[in-house]
Amino acid sequence: MGPVSDEKVNQYLRQTRDLFGDEIYVELDPTPSGTSSIKSTQKPSYSEFPSDLSLFNQHINQCHKCELGNSRTNFVFGVGDPKASLVIVGEAPGEQEDLKGEPFVGRAGKLLDKILAAIDRSREKDVYICNVLKCRPPNNRDPLASEVSECEPYLIHQINLIRPKLIVALGRVAGKTLLNVDNSLKSMRGQLHDYHGTPLIVTYHPAALLRNPNWKTDAWKDFKWIRSIIDA
Ligand code: URA
Repeated sequence: MGPVSDEKVNQYLRQTRDLFGDEIYVELDPTPSGTSSIKSTQKPSYSEFPSDLSLFNQHINQCHKCELGNSRTNFVFGVGDPKASLVIVGEAPGEQEDLKGEPFVGRAGKLLDKILAAIDRSREKDVYICNVLKCRPPNNRDPLASEVSECEPYLIHQINLIRPKLIVALGRVAGKTLLNVDNSLKSMRGQLHDYHGTPLIVTYHPAALLRNPNWKTDAWKDFKWIRSIIDA
């Protein structure tokens, strides 16, 4: 890596202060101690779906495979760089996302944008953002197993097309749904999991960070680890 300009350093410090306040956290070893080795699993493939992301959106955005198709305002396919090295997955669209048809556009989404800027990424640059479910569950309840089993092939196909280096699941619900376990966020954090052959990290949902700002220190450790993987 070449020399880093003063302007870059200042920009980094401004972003970090904006996110995390005046304290600076220095990670000496970017790999958390609980890192597990990656287990590769069979990758499902869906040859009946188009092999272009925007055609795929057109192909599925009138979906009515589950009841959420009747209550949604908009189908929330996903947004970002179709060649991203990082795919970020939340659980399901909320109210703002349902109204706009785009993931993470509410308060939590604004915080996510700041976190991405702090690792020199954005929803247009090297990142793709989507959810396990493409339609909003009523009153933002957790996804039902039946909804996940109808919708997850869409996510898997998106990931197969994007071929990211890393998937980040935001929050316990997204993490346990993708990993098919009933574990706490604490036990899923700090490990490199496997999602159909792609490494996956689970970290805090930005809405949780808004409710508990003291978790931002650990979230920042996670995102520095995430950056070290996608920069490699
Ligand atoms: N929370 C999520 O999990 N996804 C969104 O798109 C918005 C909020």
